[in-house]
Amino acid sequence: MDNKLLEIENLKTYFFTDSGRVPAVNGVDLFIREGETLGIVGESGCGKSVTSLSVMRLLAHTPGRVVDGSIRFAGMDLLSLPESKMREIRGNEIAMIFQEPMTSLNPVYKIGDQIGEAVRLHLKYDKKKARERVIQMLKLVGIPRAEEIVDEYPHQLSGGMRQRIMIAMAMSCEPKLLIADEPTTALDVTIQAQILDLMRKLKEERGTAIMLITHDLGVVAEMCDRVVVMYAGKVVEEADVFDIFENPKHPYTQGLLHSIPKLRRKTERLQSIPGNVPTPGNMPSGCKFAPRCSHAMDVCREQEPDLLQIASGHRCRCFLYQNDLAKEA
Ligand SMILES: Nc1ncnc2c1ncn2[C@@H]1O[C@H](COP(=O)(O)OP(=O)(O)OP(=O)(O)O)[C@@H](O)[C@H]1O
Ligand SMILES: [Mg+2]
Repeated sequence: MDNKLLEIENLKTYFFTDSGRVPAVNGVDLFIREGETLGIVGESGCGKSVTSLSVMRLLAHTPGRVVDGSIRFAGMDLLSLPESKMREIRGNEIAMIFQEPMTSLNPVYKIGDQIGEAVRLHLKYDKKKARERVIQMLKLVGIPRAEEIVDEYPHQLSGGMRQRIMIAMAMSCEPKLLIADEPTTALDVTIQAQILDLMRKLKEERGTAIMLITHDLGVVAEMCDRVVVMYAGKVVEEADVFDIFENPKHPYTQGLLHSIPKLRRKTERLQSIPGNVPTPGNMPSGCKFAPRCSHAMDVCREQEPDLLQIASGHRCRCFLYQNDLAKEA
């Protein structure tokens, strides 16, 4: 248990907008062990991306700010590091790939120069050595004609190729942690499978830990060791992947699993649980899921349950089980 690479405790990230304070992440607790893949799932707006941006400290250009909690990574307190040190960690020790590769590739730089710049900065390689490394990385992620592609621009490549380039760039400095925020959502199914294979291979060969954010429970089943389920800015359940699918405890997780569409379309969202995620201005006072929960009791509308361990490696934020625990005690 002490091989935790990333540990987030009571993270609160709020946006301060003209229309008020938005508690996007409101007390998130999670950890990732070295070399493991943690899936983060939950409906749109529950705070998955904001959690990852908080880890990367990429909120500076938004009205968002971490207001409480701690983020520890490899023995460092990320929230208190100076920006210069954080810049070294970004890309070097923690890399991130986003849903839309085009937004994070610079259109005016050749592929080789973009990845090469990261390599030169982080691994302190000279230009020639960096270029060789880039070609090697492009081959590793299955880019054909790597020697030619290094001299091409992002717009000359297909979406699937660009996402491979992003992965090559993310992996080129051999990060300890890769954060992948919906890395395959924008891609068609065949390319999606190839990219997932690639991430799995990199994990196995290099022992990279992965934080995989996705709304696709099929991807979770295929890729993840452990799963965190988020709802309204908090973790509501955490368990190993087998338990999440075979023995889901939180009524929200159970709802998500029921909502897996039979014929999965790539744009399908998890939305067949009746009702909607509460809006920040309209947060229920007790359990945030209570208004949509068919098991809700009086206590659920009055108090917010804690995230408690209900079995080995299995945590759940629900009074259904806390009452059981109370009875046993
Ligand atoms: N730049 C911003 N300014 C104001 N509010 C924001 C900003 N970015 C995110 N939020 C708010 O933070 C909350 C969480 O957003 P986040 O992007 O983390 O959701 P998500 O779980 O990643 O959803 P999705 O599955 O759609 O990607 C949302 O309610 C959103 O409105
Ligand atoms: Mg998101």
